[in-house]
Amino acid sequence: MHSKFIRSISAIIAASSLTFTSGVSAEEGSFTKEVEYRQAVMTVIAYNTKKIGSMLKGDTPYDVEKIKTHAKDIASLSSLEILSAFPEDSVTDESDAMEDIWMDFETFEQKLKDFQTAAAGINTAAQSGDKAAVGAAMKDLGASCKGCHKKFKN
Ligand code: HEC
Repeated sequence: MHSKFIRSISAIIAASSLTFTSGVSAEEGSFTKEVEYRQAVMTVIAYNTKKIGSMLKGDTPYDVEKIKTHAKDIASLSSLEILSAFPEDSVTDESDAMEDIWMDFETFEQKLKDFQTAAAGINTAAQSGDKAAVGAAMKDLGASCKGCHKKFKN
């Protein structure tokens, strides 16, 4: 009984010193869900963006109704509350997020706002049915992805 108690105390001390000496690896497990969530949101946004892109390029037949649906979904996805999936220093081995996010969170938030504006723009363009407007809005949308990734994603 006594030695078991000592062992658990030692385990607790070992675990806490691990937290202090190598914060990153000790923290990793706790951010798995956040990383999975934000990557899933990005994957769904990218899916819809690529569908529109391939129709504009002519790789798949241009379909006004499909463009409308994908654009509406991009606009909806852009309103998801994603900042809470970026808690401070939430980088894991699976994550491509850069520490710069938390060194300049204001700029990160601004990049997210730029994307939300571009997402609303593609939705407006798509609902108008004007192909040229969709093309222009896609350029803005693509620029908003790159604008954030360049600074904040590996
Ligand atoms: C405000 C910043 C920001 C904007 C805007 C943004 N992204 Fe991302 N994106 C990230 C970050 C950060 C990651 C890395 C997340 C991680 O791995 O933890 C990421 C990851 C991704 C991934 C990889 C997902 C995975 O499974 O690893 C894809 C694909 C992606 N983004 C596509 C897009 C597209 C397409 C757009 C624009 C329509 C976009 N992103 C807009 C910040 C952004």
